[in-house]
Amino acid sequence: LESVPALQSEVRALAAERGAVILAHNYQLPEVQDVADFVGDSLALSQQAAKTDAEVIAFCGVHFMAETASVLSPGKTVLLPDMDAGCSLADSITAAQLRAWKAKHPNALVVMYVNTTAEVKAETDYCVTSSNAVQVVEHIYATHGEDTEILFGPDMFLGAYVEKETGRKMHVWDGECHVHAGIRPSDITNMRDAHPGADFLIHPECGCSTSVMEYVAAGDVSSEGVHMLSTGGMMTWAASAPAGTTAIMATETGMLHPLQMARPDIDFVAANEAASCRYMKMITLPKLRDTLRDNSGVVKVPEAIAERARLPIERMVAIG
Ligand code: 13P
Ligand code: SF4
Repeated sequence: LESVPALQSEVRALAAERGAVILAHNYQLPEVQDVADFVGDSLALSQQAAKTDAEVIAFCGVHFMAETASVLSPGKTVLLPDMDAGCSLADSITAAQLRAWKAKHPNALVVMYVNTTAEVKAETDYCVTSSNAVQVVEHIYATHGEDTEILFGPDMFLGAYVEKETGRKMHVWDGECHVHAGIRPSDITNMRDAHPGADFLIHPECGCSTSVMEYVAAGDVSSEGVHMLSTGGMMTWAASAPAGTTAIMATETGMLHPLQMARPDIDFVAANEAASCRYMKMITLPKLRDTLRDNSGVVKVPEAIAERARLPIERMVAIG
């Protein structure tokens, strides 16, 4: 069995030879994050994919993310080290289901989370990620009018969060991510008891997110200590948090690695240690090495779909 450092140098050498940039999501295995050129959240990775000069993008993440990179950089070769790295949330709505939903609401604008297939994005007006969903929906109300009817999907917890922040009702699809939905209100209650005074970093996809908003509304948890953030937002929060803080992190546990690397003087605790995404963990160093060496795992969105999927993604990237 090859050692991690040996595999990492093999990966770096192959990336240099092929002119490849390695992008990795915050939930990737630590040894994969450490070999990447850039580690970030879904939005930051889309932005990197759009602006890179590299000929080849090796995407250490899940299939919809590689598709997004292919849509934004159609002239580049996008590689995904394991084609089975899917996403339960992206699987919760198909293009046919979305078309049927739109047919019932012909005047509505469609806002879809970036965790969707390119085919679904091709039926969408605006994409959002967890770091800009509120901002994009506010932008829609400001530019299309306060009464705009919005179909929002596929994540119901993110939808509920956006509704609360904007103070408006949308039509929300009832999809969920099995990992984040599994982080329950009881996890937060237990953590609050075990770590009084700790800060909470909550990903809006979590099954606990709506109850945390209720705790804050009821005054049980101080709003100052609760931060609803994308994984990139958690990194920004960590950059300026005081040393010695304890932070309860409610998201996929891979996120502990970049947070702890950035701030070894803060104690990050997973709200639920079982919150691990098996799809994200399918990407390993040997698979990344093989994909770069053999040019296997090419993700290419057909141009007819990519052309239509590009518009909502570019709108989102432009808004921020
Ligand atoms: P962000 O990194 O954009 O917060 O997304 C979380 C996620 O679940 C991606 O699969
Ligand atoms: Fe999809 Fe959830 Fe895994 Fe993210 S953590 S890739 S949303 S299944």
